[in-house]
Amino acid sequence: MKTHNYSRREFVGMSAAAGASLAANTLGPLPPHLVPDPGAVAASDRVRFGMIGVGMQGSGLLSQAITLPGVECAAACDLYDGRHTLAREIVRADLPVTRRYQELLDNKEIDCIVAAVPDHWHKQVVVDAVSAGKDIYCEKPMSHSAADGVAMVDAAKRSGRIVQIGSQRVSSQVCAKAKELIAQGTLGDLMLVEGWLGRNDPTGAWEYPPPPDLSPKNLDWDTWQGTVPKRPFDPFIFARWRCWKEYGTGVAGDLLVHLVSGMMFMLGINAPPKQASAVGGIRRWKDGRNMPDVQAVVYDYDGLPVYMRLNLGTEMPETYRIQGSKGLLEVTGSALTLTPQSGKDQYPSYYTGSYPRALRQAYLAKWHEENDPKMGQPVTMPETISFSGPDFDDIRPHQWTFFEAVRTRKPVVEDVVFGHHAALACHMANESYFRRGAVSWDEATKTIKG
Ligand SMILES: NC(=O)c1ccc[n+]([C@@H]2O[C@H](COP(=O)([O-])OP(=O)(O)OC[C@H]3O[C@@H](n4cnc5c(N)ncnc54)[C@H](O)[C@@H]3O)[C@@H](O)[C@H]2O)c1
Repeated sequence: MKTHNYSRREFVGMSAAAGASLAANTLGPLPPHLVPDPGAVAASDRVRFGMIGVGMQGSGLLSQAITLPGVECAAACDLYDGRHTLAREIVRADLPVTRRYQELLDNKEIDCIVAAVPDHWHKQVVVDAVSAGKDIYCEKPMSHSAADGVAMVDAAKRSGRIVQIGSQRVSSQVCAKAKELIAQGTLGDLMLVEGWLGRNDPTGAWEYPPPPDLSPKNLDWDTWQGTVPKRPFDPFIFARWRCWKEYGTGVAGDLLVHLVSGMMFMLGINAPPKQASAVGGIRRWKDGRNMPDVQAVVYDYDGLPVYMRLNLGTEMPETYRIQGSKGLLEVTGSALTLTPQSGKDQYPSYYTGSYPRALRQAYLAKWHEENDPKMGQPVTMPETISFSGPDFDDIRPHQWTFFEAVRTRKPVVEDVVFGHHAALACHMANESYFRRGAVSWDEATKTIKG
């Protein structure tokens, strides 16, 4: 992915020169590679996609994708007939719909697939799609297990098809700005990264209301369950699958994966953590779920400590604090704030209070001589700089990147390897939580070890 040259105006406050203590900047227009140009696509270059999974996320992806220039939905697939109706409401009344995604993969008129199925179906859909010669945009977390991720990477590499995973932080303008600032060395040496997200409502905790008409008549419940041990029809599992490890990947795969993907993008990391250690529990939503609703994890990213917290019992807006020897960068949904730090003493060392008077006075005189502002000369003040922009829920540009890659065959940033590495961090957090001990990724055996 190309990087964008931001205007000088956006960097004008970056120098350590004297000035106001707080400079506020608005992020400029989207970088060119993330802007759909309505006139840029020839009719012959139209991308026709098949949609697999038209649920909560899939219906949003579908609605947005069809507004992109040169992008057309050719057919949709879901196991629940109510979502056939929904797909036709979104796209057009005569949109071909099916319960069998293989029909979309066999359709030569379809160039690529957009898939938003529950996590336990990701591997099969991606492997089948790339094996059938289709590029695929698959929702995050890429995999439901480390082994699934390994199989997906193998299949994608064998096929040479484009795979993009749907963690849209990678297409966020705010994260792109943070990435640029970090790459310029603004933070100095990285010390520690923190990230957190909290929610405090039933919907945020995945207690979704199942569609009232759902029944085995209009849903292929058997296929929905995939290879998971079969259970009688349960509309709550259908709607709230994230609560159970058999189908979902917990707060790690649902939410942490966004924090991790965004961090990997901003810091230029494309590797799993060396080690993960997580604690947590089911502290608030005792509704029969088997995945924690609170989880805190400490990672070792090649020496860089990364501390991430997910909490479904207290609302806390998604935030990163990226800490370096030259300052602090705080990144939120629509803004970032850079607070430079000199790394030098701002005051005489309080330790010298323990000196006898003569030594103390000599130290103080020398310190003030060397550090006090000189009369008649400008005072250098550290400058806090803030940038604000659109919310970094950048699904539309993220989808645009994928469709452009399908057209141009240019590689995407969040490819199958990046997606695998981000998902591994989540699987390691879950493994550590369940094993109650630190875990590491063993590349030789491609397994998580205790
Ligand atoms: N990027 C984001 O911000 C974001 C947000 C929400 C969800 N997601 C991801 O999107 C995916 C879907 O989540 P959701 O909330 O939309 O789930 P959902 O349960 O609302 O929808 C999933 C749909 O997939 C269908 N489906 C399941 N198996 C299928 C199969 N084999 N063939 C065809 N259709 C099948 C189901 O019938 C259902 O309609 C998940 O991986 C989730 O993590 C991403």
